[in-house]
Amino acid sequence: MVAERGEPRARHAPPAPGLRDAAGGRLAYPVWVGAGALDRLGPVVAAAAPAHRYAIVTDETVAARHGARAAAALAPHVDAAPLIIAVPPGEAHKTRDTWARVTDELLAAGYGRDTTIVALGGGVVGDLAGFVAATYLRGVPVVQAPSTLLAMVDASVGGKTAVDTPAGKNLVGAFHPPAAVLVDPTLLGTLPPADLAAGAAEALKHGVIADARHFGDAAALLPALASGAAAGDPAVLDGLARVVADSVAIKAAVVAEDPREHGRRKTLNLGHTVGHAVELAAGYRIRHGEAVALGMVAECDIAERVGLAEPGTAARVRAACRAGGLPTALPAGITPDAVLAATRGDKKARGGRVEYALPARVGAMVEADGRWAVPVDDAVVLGVLAALRAPDAESAP
Ligand SMILES: NC(=O)c1ccc[n+]([C@@H]2O[C@H](COP(=O)([O-])OP(=O)(O)OC[C@H]3O[C@@H](n4cnc5c(N)ncnc54)[C@H](O)[C@@H]3O)[C@@H](O)[C@H]2O)c1
Ligand SMILES: [Zn+2]
Repeated sequence: MVAERGEPRARHAPPAPGLRDAAGGRLAYPVWVGAGALDRLGPVVAAAAPAHRYAIVTDETVAARHGARAAAALAPHVDAAPLIIAVPPGEAHKTRDTWARVTDELLAAGYGRDTTIVALGGGVVGDLAGFVAATYLRGVPVVQAPSTLLAMVDASVGGKTAVDTPAGKNLVGAFHPPAAVLVDPTLLGTLPPADLAAGAAEALKHGVIADARHFGDAAALLPALASGAAAGDPAVLDGLARVVADSVAIKAAVVAEDPREHGRRKTLNLGHTVGHAVELAAGYRIRHGEAVALGMVAECDIAERVGLAEPGTAARVRAACRAGGLPTALPAGITPDAVLAATRGDKKARGGRVEYALPARVGAMVEADGRWAVPVDDAVVLGVLAALRAPDAESAP
Protein backbone atom coordinates (compact mmCIF):
# COMPACT_ATOMS: atom_id res chain seq x y z
CA MET A 1 0.00 0.00 0.00
CA VAL A 2 1.12 3.52 -0.71
CA ALA A 3 1.00 5.98 2.18
CA GLU A 4 -2.09 8.15 1.83
CA ARG A 5 -1.90 11.82 2.68
CA GLY A 6 -1.95 12.31 6.43
CA GLU A 7 -0.64 8.84 7.28
CA PRO A 8 2.43 8.75 9.50
CA ARG A 9 5.67 8.52 7.55
CA ALA A 10 7.01 5.03 7.01
CA ARG A 11 10.31 4.19 8.70
CA HIS A 12 12.72 1.76 7.13
CA ALA A 13 16.04 0.57 8.51
CA PRO A 14 18.80 0.90 5.89
CA PRO A 15 20.02 -2.54 4.73
CA ALA A 16 23.59 -1.24 4.50
CA PRO A 17 25.60 1.87 5.32
CA GLY A 18 25.69 4.26 2.38
CA LEU A 19 22.16 3.47 1.22
CA ARG A 20 19.44 6.02 1.83
CA ASP A 21 15.71 6.08 1.22
CA ALA A 22 15.43 8.64 -1.58
CA ALA A 23 11.65 8.73 -1.08
CA GLY A 24 12.39 10.29 2.32
CA GLY A 25 9.85 8.06 4.04
CA ARG A 26 6.99 9.56 2.01
CA LEU A 27 6.00 6.18 0.60
CA ALA A 28 5.08 2.99 2.41
CA TYR A 29 8.08 1.32 0.76
CA PRO A 30 11.74 2.36 0.74
CA VAL A 31 13.63 3.46 -2.39
CA TRP A 32 17.22 2.57 -1.52
CA VAL A 33 19.73 4.48 -3.63
CA GLY A 34 23.49 3.98 -3.57
CA ALA A 35 26.48 2.53 -5.41
CA GLY A 36 26.52 -1.23 -4.80
CA ALA A 37 22.85 -1.33 -3.78
CA LEU A 38 22.22 -4.39 -5.98
CA ASP A 39 24.63 -6.41 -3.83
CA ARG A 40 22.23 -5.84 -0.91
CA LEU A 41 19.34 -7.46 -2.80
CA GLY A 42 19.27 -10.41 -0.35
CA PRO A 43 18.81 -8.42 2.87
CA VAL A 44 16.44 -5.96 1.16
CA VAL A 45 14.18 -8.74 -0.10
CA ALA A 46 14.40 -10.61 3.20
CA ALA A 47 13.28 -7.48 5.07
CA ALA A 48 10.66 -6.17 2.65
CA ALA A 49 9.18 -9.26 1.01
CA PRO A 50 10.33 -12.54 2.60
CA ALA A 51 8.94 -15.54 0.70
CA HIS A 52 9.32 -19.25 0.21
CA ARG A 53 10.50 -18.86 -3.39
CA TYR A 54 11.92 -16.06 -5.52
CA ALA A 55 11.93 -15.34 -9.24
CA ILE A 56 14.05 -12.73 -11.01
CA VAL A 57 12.26 -11.42 -14.09
CA THR A 58 14.59 -9.59 -16.45
CA ASP A 59 15.37 -9.21 -20.16
CA GLU A 60 18.06 -11.05 -22.11
CA THR A 61 20.38 -8.03 -22.35
CA VAL A 62 20.22 -7.22 -18.65
CA ALA A 63 20.46 -10.91 -17.70
CA ALA A 64 23.75 -11.19 -19.58
CA ARG A 65 25.24 -8.13 -17.86
CA HIS A 66 23.81 -8.11 -14.34
CA GLY A 67 21.77 -11.31 -13.84
CA ALA A 68 24.51 -13.33 -12.17
CA ARG A 69 25.31 -10.48 -9.78
CA ALA A 70 21.65 -10.20 -8.74
CA ALA A 71 21.31 -13.97 -8.27
CA ALA A 72 24.53 -14.09 -6.21
CA ALA A 73 23.28 -11.27 -4.01
CA LEU A 74 20.06 -13.15 -3.36
CA ALA A 75 21.43 -16.69 -2.97
CA PRO A 76 22.77 -16.59 0.62
CA HIS A 77 19.47 -15.23 1.89
CA VAL A 78 17.05 -17.71 0.29
CA ASP A 79 16.43 -21.45 0.58
CA ALA A 80 16.32 -22.36 -3.11
CA ALA A 81 18.15 -20.76 -6.04
CA PRO A 82 15.90 -18.16 -7.68
CA LEU A 83 14.31 -18.89 -11.04
CA ILE A 84 15.60 -16.42 -13.64
CA ILE A 85 13.12 -15.61 -16.40
CA ALA A 86 14.61 -13.50 -19.21
CA VAL A 87 12.27 -12.07 -21.85
CA PRO A 88 13.44 -10.58 -25.16
CA PRO A 89 14.37 -6.89 -24.73
CA GLY A 90 12.35 -3.96 -25.97
CA GLU A 91 8.96 -2.28 -25.83
CA ALA A 92 7.66 -4.64 -28.53
CA HIS A 93 7.67 -7.39 -25.90
CA LYS A 94 5.75 -5.48 -23.20
CA THR A 95 2.63 -7.38 -24.21
CA ARG A 96 -0.06 -9.70 -22.93
CA ASP A 97 1.75 -12.56 -24.73
CA THR A 98 4.93 -11.99 -22.72
CA TRP A 99 2.87 -11.58 -19.52
CA ALA A 100 1.30 -15.00 -20.26
CA ARG A 101 4.70 -16.58 -21.00
CA VAL A 102 6.23 -15.39 -17.72
CA THR A 103 3.14 -16.38 -15.75
CA ASP A 104 3.10 -19.84 -17.32
CA GLU A 105 6.79 -20.36 -16.49
CA LEU A 106 6.11 -19.57 -12.84
CA LEU A 107 3.12 -21.91 -12.80
CA ALA A 108 5.10 -24.69 -14.49
CA ALA A 109 7.83 -24.31 -11.87
CA GLY A 110 5.22 -24.74 -9.14
CA TYR A 111 5.54 -21.27 -7.65
CA GLY A 112 2.80 -20.66 -5.07
CA ARG A 113 1.44 -17.61 -3.32
CA ASP A 114 4.49 -17.43 -1.08
CA THR A 115 6.56 -16.02 -3.96
CA THR A 116 8.40 -12.72 -4.39
CA ILE A 117 9.24 -11.41 -7.85
CA VAL A 118 12.33 -9.27 -8.42
CA ALA A 119 12.06 -7.04 -11.51
CA LEU A 120 15.62 -6.51 -12.75
CA GLY A 121 15.74 -4.26 -15.81
CA GLY A 122 14.46 -1.13 -17.48
CA GLY A 123 10.96 0.25 -17.47
CA VAL A 124 9.75 -2.47 -19.83
CA VAL A 125 10.75 -5.21 -17.39
CA GLY A 126 9.51 -3.21 -14.40
CA ASP A 127 6.06 -2.67 -15.92
CA LEU A 128 5.80 -6.24 -17.20
CA ALA A 129 7.13 -8.04 -14.10
CA GLY A 130 5.10 -5.69 -11.92
CA PHE A 131 1.96 -6.65 -13.81
CA VAL A 132 2.82 -10.34 -13.54
CA ALA A 133 3.25 -9.84 -9.78
CA ALA A 134 -0.03 -7.89 -9.54
CA THR A 135 -1.97 -10.74 -11.11
CA TYR A 136 -0.04 -13.92 -10.19
CA LEU A 137 -2.35 -15.96 -7.93
CA ARG A 138 -4.21 -12.67 -7.32
CA GLY A 139 -1.04 -10.81 -6.40
CA VAL A 140 2.42 -11.45 -4.97
CA PRO A 141 5.05 -8.88 -3.87
CA VAL A 142 7.47 -7.30 -6.33
CA VAL A 143 10.82 -5.70 -5.58
CA GLN A 144 11.96 -3.30 -8.29
CA ALA A 145 15.66 -3.31 -9.18
CA PRO A 146 15.86 -0.80 -12.07
CA SER A 147 18.79 -0.98 -14.49
CA THR A 148 18.12 2.00 -16.80
CA LEU A 149 18.22 5.66 -15.88
CA LEU A 150 14.59 5.96 -16.96
CA ALA A 151 13.50 3.18 -14.62
CA MET A 152 15.62 4.59 -11.76
CA VAL A 153 14.25 8.14 -11.95
CA ASP A 154 10.69 7.20 -12.80
CA ALA A 155 9.26 3.80 -13.75
CA SER A 156 10.34 1.81 -10.67
CA VAL A 157 8.65 4.21 -8.24
CA GLY A 158 4.92 4.79 -7.92
CA GLY A 159 3.35 1.38 -8.37
CA LYS A 160 2.02 1.65 -11.93
CA THR A 161 2.35 -1.61 -13.88
CA ALA A 162 1.06 -2.38 -17.36
CA VAL A 163 1.44 -3.96 -20.78
CA ASP A 164 0.70 -2.44 -24.19
CA THR A 165 -1.99 -3.50 -26.66
CA PRO A 166 -2.35 -2.76 -30.38
CA ALA A 167 -4.75 0.07 -29.41
CA GLY A 168 -2.13 1.88 -27.33
CA LYS A 169 0.40 1.92 -24.52
CA ASN A 170 -0.19 0.71 -20.96
CA LEU A 171 -3.87 0.00 -21.60
CA VAL A 172 -3.95 -3.17 -19.50
CA GLY A 173 -2.40 -2.92 -16.05
CA ALA A 174 -2.76 -2.42 -12.34
CA PHE A 175 -1.60 -0.27 -9.47
CA HIS A 176 0.76 -2.60 -7.61
CA PRO A 177 3.26 -0.71 -5.43
CA PRO A 178 6.59 -2.49 -4.93
CA ALA A 179 7.64 -3.85 -1.54
CA ALA A 180 10.95 -2.05 -2.04
CA VAL A 181 12.99 -0.37 -4.77
CA LEU A 182 16.74 -0.87 -5.02
CA VAL A 183 18.57 1.67 -7.19
CA ASP A 184 22.22 0.98 -7.97
CA PRO A 185 23.63 3.69 -10.27
CA THR A 186 26.70 1.53 -11.06
CA LEU A 187 24.43 -0.55 -13.32
CA LEU A 188 24.33 2.46 -15.64
CA GLY A 189 27.95 1.82 -16.59
CA THR A 190 26.76 -0.67 -19.22
CA LEU A 191 23.81 1.39 -20.51
CA PRO A 192 24.26 2.86 -24.04
CA PRO A 193 24.47 6.70 -24.21
CA ALA A 194 21.19 7.01 -26.14
CA ASP A 195 19.36 5.16 -23.35
CA LEU A 196 21.02 7.37 -20.72
CA ALA A 197 19.86 10.49 -22.56
CA ALA A 198 16.35 9.06 -22.96
CA GLY A 199 16.18 8.43 -19.22
CA ALA A 200 17.27 11.97 -18.50
CA ALA A 201 14.14 13.18 -20.32
CA GLU A 202 12.01 11.92 -17.41
CA ALA A 203 14.35 13.71 -14.97
CA LEU A 204 13.88 16.93 -16.97
CA LYS A 205 10.15 16.28 -16.70
CA HIS A 206 10.34 16.15 -12.91
CA GLY A 207 12.22 19.45 -13.01
CA VAL A 208 9.58 21.13 -15.16
CA ILE A 209 6.85 19.80 -12.89
CA ALA A 210 8.26 20.79 -9.54
CA ASP A 211 11.79 22.16 -9.31
CA ALA A 212 13.64 24.50 -11.67
CA ARG A 213 16.97 23.74 -9.96
CA HIS A 214 16.53 20.01 -10.65
CA PHE A 215 15.71 20.85 -14.27
CA GLY A 216 19.01 22.73 -14.46
CA ASP A 217 20.96 19.83 -12.90
CA ALA A 218 19.50 17.27 -15.32
CA ALA A 219 20.01 19.61 -18.30
CA ALA A 220 23.64 20.22 -17.31
CA LEU A 221 24.30 16.47 -17.21
CA LEU A 222 22.56 15.59 -20.48
CA PRO A 223 25.31 16.43 -22.99
CA ALA A 224 27.83 14.27 -21.09
CA LEU A 225 25.36 11.38 -20.94
CA ALA A 226 24.59 11.61 -24.64
CA SER A 227 28.28 11.76 -25.58
CA GLY A 228 29.08 8.55 -23.71
CA ALA A 229 31.20 10.24 -21.04
CA ALA A 230 29.17 8.68 -18.21
CA ALA A 231 30.71 5.23 -18.30
CA GLY A 232 34.21 6.30 -17.29
CA ASP A 233 33.81 9.62 -15.51
CA PRO A 234 33.23 9.41 -11.74
CA ALA A 235 32.05 13.04 -11.67
CA VAL A 236 29.30 12.23 -14.17
CA LEU A 237 28.31 9.10 -12.24
CA ASP A 238 28.20 11.19 -9.05
CA GLY A 239 26.01 13.77 -10.74
CA LEU A 240 23.80 10.98 -12.00
CA ALA A 241 23.32 9.53 -8.53
CA ARG A 242 22.27 12.97 -7.26
CA VAL A 243 19.84 13.52 -10.15
CA VAL A 244 18.33 10.06 -9.56
CA ALA A 245 17.81 10.74 -5.84
CA ASP A 246 16.27 14.18 -6.49
CA SER A 247 13.95 12.82 -9.20
CA VAL A 248 12.80 10.01 -6.91
CA ALA A 249 12.10 12.54 -4.14
CA ILE A 250 9.96 14.65 -6.49
CA LYS A 251 8.04 11.67 -7.83
CA ALA A 252 7.56 10.22 -4.33
CA ALA A 253 6.10 13.50 -3.07
CA VAL A 254 3.58 13.62 -5.93
CA VAL A 255 2.63 9.94 -5.66
CA ALA A 256 2.27 10.12 -1.86
CA GLU A 257 -0.20 12.99 -2.25
CA ASP A 258 -2.25 11.29 -4.98
CA PRO A 259 -1.47 7.55 -5.34
CA ARG A 260 -4.33 6.80 -7.78
CA GLU A 261 -4.01 9.80 -10.09
CA HIS A 262 -7.20 11.65 -9.27
CA GLY A 263 -5.43 15.00 -9.09
CA ARG A 264 -1.82 16.10 -8.79
CA ARG A 265 -0.36 12.82 -10.07
CA LYS A 266 -1.67 13.83 -13.50
CA THR A 267 1.24 16.29 -13.66
CA LEU A 268 3.60 13.30 -14.06
CA ASN A 269 1.94 12.78 -17.45
CA LEU A 270 3.61 15.93 -18.80
CA GLY A 271 4.95 15.05 -22.25
CA HIS A 272 3.15 11.71 -22.27
CA THR A 273 -0.11 12.51 -24.06
CA VAL A 274 1.76 13.53 -27.20
CA GLY A 275 4.66 11.18 -26.31
CA HIS A 276 2.53 8.02 -26.13
CA ALA A 277 0.77 9.04 -29.35
CA VAL A 278 4.12 9.42 -31.13
CA GLU A 279 5.29 6.03 -29.84
CA LEU A 280 2.12 4.38 -31.11
CA ALA A 281 2.19 6.20 -34.47
CA ALA A 282 5.87 5.28 -34.89
CA GLY A 283 5.25 1.61 -34.06
CA TYR A 284 7.49 1.86 -30.96
CA ARG A 285 10.55 2.48 -33.14
CA ILE A 286 11.71 5.29 -30.86
CA ARG A 287 12.64 5.10 -27.19
CA HIS A 288 10.00 6.01 -24.61
CA GLY A 289 12.22 8.76 -23.16
CA GLU A 290 12.80 10.22 -26.63
CA ALA A 291 9.05 10.32 -27.25
CA VAL A 292 8.59 12.00 -23.86
CA ALA A 293 11.20 14.67 -24.74
CA LEU A 294 9.39 15.47 -27.97
CA GLY A 295 6.03 15.28 -26.20
CA MET A 296 7.25 17.69 -23.53
CA VAL A 297 8.38 20.19 -26.15
CA ALA A 298 4.99 19.90 -27.90
CA GLU A 299 3.02 20.26 -24.68
CA CYS A 300 5.09 23.27 -23.56
CA ASP A 301 4.33 24.83 -26.98
CA ILE A 302 0.63 24.06 -26.42
CA ALA A 303 0.75 25.64 -22.96
CA GLU A 304 2.26 28.84 -24.40
CA ARG A 305 -0.25 28.95 -27.28
CA VAL A 306 -3.23 28.75 -24.94
CA GLY A 307 -1.66 31.40 -22.71
CA LEU A 308 -1.09 29.21 -19.66
CA ALA A 309 2.73 29.04 -19.68
CA GLU A 310 5.23 31.83 -19.17
CA PRO A 311 6.75 32.76 -22.57
CA GLY A 312 10.16 31.10 -22.96
CA THR A 313 9.16 27.89 -21.13
CA ALA A 314 9.12 25.83 -24.33
CA ALA A 315 12.39 27.39 -25.53
CA ARG A 316 14.18 26.29 -22.32
CA VAL A 317 12.88 22.73 -22.58
CA ARG A 318 13.66 22.59 -26.31
CA ALA A 319 17.23 23.82 -25.74
CA ALA A 320 17.87 21.24 -23.00
CA CYS A 321 16.57 18.41 -25.19
CA ARG A 322 18.59 19.54 -28.23
CA ALA A 323 21.80 19.80 -26.20
CA GLY A 324 21.30 16.18 -25.14
CA GLY A 325 20.54 14.90 -28.63
CA LEU A 326 16.89 14.26 -27.74
CA PRO A 327 14.35 14.70 -30.55
CA THR A 328 12.44 17.97 -30.85
CA ALA A 329 10.77 17.17 -34.21
CA LEU A 330 8.39 14.39 -35.23
CA PRO A 331 10.09 11.24 -36.58
CA ALA A 332 10.34 11.15 -40.38
CA GLY A 333 7.16 9.89 -42.00
CA ILE A 334 4.96 10.51 -38.95
CA THR A 335 2.27 13.08 -39.74
CA PRO A 336 0.64 15.50 -37.29
CA ASP A 337 -2.74 13.95 -38.16
CA ALA A 338 -1.54 10.46 -37.23
CA VAL A 339 -0.26 11.74 -33.87
CA LEU A 340 -3.45 13.68 -33.16
CA ALA A 341 -5.54 10.60 -33.95
CA ALA A 342 -3.38 8.52 -31.59
CA THR A 343 -3.86 10.98 -28.70
CA ARG A 344 -7.58 10.17 -28.70
CA GLY A 345 -6.99 6.54 -27.71
CA ASP A 346 -4.87 7.55 -24.75
CA LYS A 347 -6.26 7.11 -21.24
CA LYS A 348 -6.20 10.88 -20.78
CA ALA A 349 -9.11 11.37 -23.24
CA ARG A 350 -12.28 12.37 -21.39
CA GLY A 351 -15.70 13.20 -22.79
CA GLY A 352 -14.33 13.29 -26.34
CA ARG A 353 -11.66 15.91 -25.56
CA VAL A 354 -8.09 15.12 -24.72
CA GLU A 355 -6.82 16.52 -21.45
CA TYR A 356 -3.29 17.79 -20.94
CA ALA A 357 -1.25 18.44 -17.81
CA LEU A 358 0.49 21.68 -18.76
CA PRO A 359 3.38 23.69 -17.29
CA ALA A 360 2.96 27.22 -15.98
CA ARG A 361 6.76 27.62 -16.19
CA VAL A 362 9.83 25.47 -15.60
CA GLY A 363 9.25 24.34 -11.99
CA ALA A 364 5.47 24.62 -11.71
CA MET A 365 2.38 23.12 -13.33
CA VAL A 366 -0.99 24.68 -14.09
CA GLU A 367 -3.66 24.06 -11.47
CA ALA A 368 -7.20 25.42 -11.58
CA ASP A 369 -9.70 24.65 -8.83
CA GLY A 370 -7.87 21.48 -7.81
CA ARG A 371 -7.74 20.21 -11.39
CA TRP A 372 -4.34 19.46 -12.86
CA ALA A 373 -5.29 18.68 -16.46
CA VAL A 374 -7.09 20.89 -18.97
CA PRO A 375 -8.92 19.97 -22.20
CA VAL A 376 -7.25 21.44 -25.30
CA ASP A 377 -8.86 22.00 -28.70
CA ASP A 378 -7.67 19.68 -31.47
CA ALA A 379 -6.93 22.69 -33.67
CA VAL A 380 -4.34 23.99 -31.18
CA VAL A 381 -2.67 20.58 -30.88
CA LEU A 382 -2.61 20.14 -34.65
CA GLY A 383 -1.07 23.59 -35.11
CA VAL A 384 1.72 22.78 -32.68
CA LEU A 385 2.34 19.35 -34.22
CA ALA A 386 2.46 20.84 -37.72
CA ALA A 387 5.28 23.10 -36.58
CA LEU A 388 7.13 20.03 -35.25
CA ARG A 389 7.10 18.10 -38.54
CA ALA A 390 10.36 16.46 -39.48
CA PRO A 391 12.18 18.57 -42.08
CA ASP A 392 11.97 15.74 -44.65
CA ALA A 393 8.26 15.16 -43.99
CA GLU A 394 7.32 18.10 -46.23
CA SER A 395 8.07 16.05 -49.32
CA ALA A 396 6.26 12.94 -48.07
CA PRO A 397 2.96 12.22 -49.86
N1 LIG B 1 5.37 2.51 -14.50
C1 LIG B 1 5.73 3.77 -14.64
O1 LIG B 1 5.43 4.63 -13.81
C2 LIG B 1 6.54 4.16 -15.84
C3 LIG B 1 7.13 5.43 -15.89
C4 LIG B 1 7.93 5.74 -16.98
C5 LIG B 1 8.11 4.82 -18.01
N2 LIG B 1 7.51 3.61 -17.94
C6 LIG B 1 7.71 2.61 -19.00
O2 LIG B 1 9.09 2.32 -19.08
C7 LIG B 1 9.37 1.81 -20.39
C8 LIG B 1 10.68 2.40 -20.90
O3 LIG B 1 11.72 2.00 -20.06
P1 LIG B 1 13.25 2.00 -20.50
O4 LIG B 1 13.54 3.24 -21.23
O5 LIG B 1 14.03 1.66 -19.30
O6 LIG B 1 13.29 0.86 -21.63
P2 LIG B 1 13.77 -0.67 -21.62
O7 LIG B 1 13.33 -1.35 -20.40
O8 LIG B 1 13.34 -1.20 -22.92
O9 LIG B 1 15.37 -0.54 -21.60
C9 LIG B 1 16.04 0.05 -22.69
C10 LIG B 1 17.12 -0.88 -23.26
O10 LIG B 1 18.23 -0.93 -22.37
C11 LIG B 1 18.61 -2.28 -22.11
N3 LIG B 1 19.19 -2.27 -20.77
C12 LIG B 1 18.53 -2.12 -19.60
N4 LIG B 1 19.39 -1.99 -18.58
C13 LIG B 1 20.64 -2.06 -19.10
C14 LIG B 1 21.93 -1.97 -18.57
N5 LIG B 1 22.15 -1.71 -17.26
N6 LIG B 1 22.98 -2.11 -19.42
C15 LIG B 1 22.78 -2.30 -20.75
N7 LIG B 1 21.57 -2.37 -21.33
C16 LIG B 1 20.51 -2.25 -20.51
C17 LIG B 1 17.33 -3.06 -22.27
O11 LIG B 1 17.60 -4.40 -22.57
C18 LIG B 1 16.67 -2.33 -23.43
O12 LIG B 1 17.17 -2.81 -24.64
C19 LIG B 1 8.18 2.16 -21.25
O13 LIG B 1 7.44 1.00 -21.51
C20 LIG B 1 7.37 3.10 -20.38
O14 LIG B 1 6.00 3.04 -20.65
C21 LIG B 1 6.75 3.27 -16.87
ZN1 LIG C 1 7.34 7.99 -19.03
